[in-house]
Amino acid sequence: AAAEKGGFATFMEKEIYDQPQAVADTLLGRSDAEGNLILDELRISEDELKSIRKIIVLACGTSSYAGMVAKYAIERWCRIPVEVELSHEFRYRDPIIDANTLVVSISQSGETMDTLMAVRYAKEQGARTVSICNTNGSTIPRESDAVLYTHAGPEIAVASTKAFLAQITAAYLLGLYMAQLTKKLYSQEIKDILADLAEIPAKVQQILDNASQIKDLARAMAEASSVLFLGRNVGYPVALEGALKLKELAYIHAEGFAAGELKHGPIALIDEGQPVFVVVPSPMDRHSLHAKVVSNIQEVRARGAKTIVVAEAGDETVKEYAEQVFYVPETQPMLMPLLTTVPLQIFACELATAKGYDVDQPRNLAKSVTVE
Ligand code: G6P
Repeated sequence: AAAEKGGFATFMEKEIYDQPQAVADTLLGRSDAEGNLILDELRISEDELKSIRKIIVLACGTSSYAGMVAKYAIERWCRIPVEVELSHEFRYRDPIIDANTLVVSISQSGETMDTLMAVRYAKEQGARTVSICNTNGSTIPRESDAVLYTHAGPEIAVASTKAFLAQITAAYLLGLYMAQLTKKLYSQEIKDILADLAEIPAKVQQILDNASQIKDLARAMAEASSVLFLGRNVGYPVALEGALKLKELAYIHAEGFAAGELKHGPIALIDEGQPVFVVVPSPMDRHSLHAKVVSNIQEVRARGAKTIVVAEAGDETVKEYAEQVFYVPETQPMLMPLLTTVPLQIFACELATAKGYDVDQPRNLAKSVTVE
């Protein structure tokens, strides 16, 4: 078993360290030397894809947060409305679907019953269905019109890590492919994004190589009873995932919030010593969200919060308001989740390990939930 874990103490840790490979393998072979995307495996005709007027992303758990990132990317790049919904909610509300609707399911296992049932329902209603999946030949891709496999390799630890990064990568590829078909992006823009994606594995590796600071913090925070996570735009699903990892692995109460929502309620939770992680947008973000999130850091800090910030390298402004800053390498704002997620995964894994918990098999959870 030690060999299977590649020298790591747990599968979870190994899988966190597998992430550069997971992203690289998911990108592999999917574009040509000229930087054009080739997704032949997407067996839906170009004409059908061009006729898509609405996209609905369906998933559960961590995969649903990959779906939220997909929404930001696909809407921005393709100008097609995207809804993201938890599979188990979708089926029971008479959703509006037709032949011009593309349902994109995201599932690591390809066996999650809720997602499978939602896909079946969407097909019955006439939607085209694409599965983003990590498990070859599993049920959801078999029942979908097309599949875009993530190549993260087998994920053993119950809580998802490398599959998540691979799902986000695949979602970007799908968005770029549709933008290429519909000509919503210039081919140069697509090439530039692909070139930035190609640099992600090395950047994830850099974060992993410098993990001692976040691990030290995790051990120091082993007794925390509640941790909050704030993020905005693509940083919002990252905040949700950071909170979910902490619940799953360390059994600590954790909540993720959209930073803009702080003043509408969550700020009442802040008192002396409350740890708050803040995922800060790039200073280059086109909507100038950086300054808004920096002022959120100030707001919670003024109320006693212990602020822990994940920011882009070179972002000096956050230092003044943060107890600790974890820097991730620069990339374009849309791709930041592939980097900012990583310190949060390491944090949860290390903290749970410090508490003596089994991070590979957390209590009450299953890797794949095959019942409704
Ligand atoms: C379970 C796992 C989670 C996973 C979720 C969705 O709850 O414990 O880690 O995110 O299922 O699984 P899927 O295989 O559909 O991505």
